[in-house]
Amino acid sequence: MKALEIKKGIYWVGAIDWDLRNFHGYSTELGSTYNAYLIVDRKIVLVDTVKHYMFNEMLERIKGVIDPSRIDYIISNHTEMDHSGSILDMMDIAKNAVVVCSPNGEKGLKKHFKKDLKFRIVNTGDSINIGKRSLNFVLMQMVHWPDSMATYVPEDKIILPNDAFGQHIASSERFEDEFGWDRAKNEAAKYYANIVLPYGAQVNKALEAVSGLDIDMIAPSHGLMWRSRIKDITALYKKWANNECEKKAVVVYDTMWHSTEKMAYAIKDVFEDKNIPCEIKNLQSSHISDIMTSVLEAKYICVGSSTLNNGMLPTVSAFLTYMKGLAPKNRIGIAFGSYGWGGQSINDIENILEQAKFELLVKGLKIQWVPDETELAALKEKISSVIR
Ligand code: FEO
Repeated sequence: MKALEIKKGIYWVGAIDWDLRNFHGYSTELGSTYNAYLIVDRKIVLVDTVKHYMFNEMLERIKGVIDPSRIDYIISNHTEMDHSGSILDMMDIAKNAVVVCSPNGEKGLKKHFKKDLKFRIVNTGDSINIGKRSLNFVLMQMVHWPDSMATYVPEDKIILPNDAFGQHIASSERFEDEFGWDRAKNEAAKYYANIVLPYGAQVNKALEAVSGLDIDMIAPSHGLMWRSRIKDITALYKKWANNECEKKAVVVYDTMWHSTEKMAYAIKDVFEDKNIPCEIKNLQSSHISDIMTSVLEAKYICVGSSTLNNGMLPTVSAFLTYMKGLAPKNRIGIAFGSYGWGGQSINDIENILEQAKFELLVKGLKIQWVPDETELAALKEKISSVIR
């Protein structure tokens, strides 16, 4: 349980949550970390903390470097409790520590803790000298909470942007070049798709605000730190923030007696015939947070459901609610499904996709009872004729 010195005098002192499998609905099958950073200078600074139940793990790491009672500043880059959850425990030890946060951070922390701590409020452009270094702050409102901000240390070329650039990965590796770019990138994509996606405009603003900074390490609050592929991960953030899709399709469905499933596979054939890569996601076997990773870069989102009790299947309803909240833009939607008598599920899916501002090129793709070859051929023809 040692701290890791990531720059001279700057230590990773976070905690590794190997067991975490659910982060309010996000399936974290690789676990996660809560990254806290200790900066040892004339002043001692702790940047963010960890979930409350992992306080001792962080404390042991800090103790390996300094006496924790010497901490002068606790930077709270983000109020959410996976990062602020140990602030009060930390302040029981570092009794004179001042909590540094954004204006919204102060409001949020007061509401969470019901306590008036010693706060120092910072805004974009503010700087705190801690000795050989200065801490510079950039507010990143709504990336992904109103309080979010980044701390930048120009002397060490390191930025600590909290949730931005994070990934839910528990590992013994701390850097992306130790863990492997492809896996790190995939988890960063899942993280973006499930947490950051609604805030593309704000991500662009934040990227703009830090674009002139000299950075050779990005140290987020979850998962691996970036030091070898900073340009690549930043370029991906730009792409995702702009909702730049690829010519790919995802077919998401649930089915009662395999009729809607037959339609799903017929739709997949249409895309493959046009050399458009297509993934099939059965909601019985795929988690909605994994499906969102595929949605992140796919232009065509097809959603199918049988009709049950005059509506869609609950799994499909849950997926649509989740995806709509994450607000992917510039997507083309296709609704489909089988039915016995009412057939309402298809209209219901279309309505939600339209509310989500998806473009629907074709409507009314429903087949009664069990599709036969002629009906499937007609379905394929309808879709094939509108896919660009
Ligand atoms: Fe990792 Fe928004 O908390």
